[in-house]
Amino acid sequence: MPDSVILRVDRLTKTYKSVPRCLTVLNEVSFEAREGEAIAIVGPSGSGKTTLLGLCAGLDTPTSGTVELGGTNLVRLTENARAALHNELVGFVFQTFKLIPTLTALENVMVPAELRRNRKARSRALALLEDVGLGDRGHHYPAQLTGGEQQRVGLARTFINRPGILFADEPTGNLDADTSETIEH
Ligand SMILES: Nc1ncnc2c1ncn2[C@@H]1O[C@H](COP(=O)(O)OP(=O)(O)O)[C@@H](O)[C@H]1O
Ligand SMILES: [Mg+2]
Repeated sequence: MPDSVILRVDRLTKTYKSVPRCLTVLNEVSFEAREGEAIAIVGPSGSGKTTLLGLCAGLDTPTSGTVELGGTNLVRLTENARAALHNELVGFVFQTFKLIPTLTALENVMVPAELRRNRKARSRALALLEDVGLGDRGHHYPAQLTGGEQQRVGLARTFINRPGILFADEPTGNLDADTSETIEH
């Protein structure tokens, strides 16, 4: 079933043009991911994991090589089209949670669904906050939550659009072992 490939990465190269010299973080990386498959990318700090995930999720553009996500070659898309595909297909759990500080936990979770004008955004967001054990914290702002609680709000937000592919950048690094296990299931 060749069409079950949801992500195809081909000879992906990323060079950061930093002064005084260029830094090639990814050098001709190729792999495929099929629907239903789970892949772990393991490597020391600074080895390019975040860079690779960002490129695969359409958040950044490579120096060379291609990323095909859900059958679409990202390299050929405009920035707006790439963002639209990202919102439709991708869930991304950031290493730094990237919550919006001026919105409550509940509002943060609702954002991706509201961008799609989903009228069930509020009730789905409430249910997802329950799922991550924060049903009673919806009115709190990010600054009023611990790192682990902010990470769980980020996870709830990730799932609101029922993503076809989920990227997680060290998603349980700020959680205790029990919570990590719950999240992974
Ligand atoms: N925007 C950038 N500009 C220049 N160098 C960067 C940039 N982002 C990351 N790097 C460098 O690229 C390397 C890989 O970083 P990263 O992908 O964050 O690795 P990891 O997630 O595995 O820790 C690091 O040496 C980092 O300093
Ligand atoms: Mg990283």
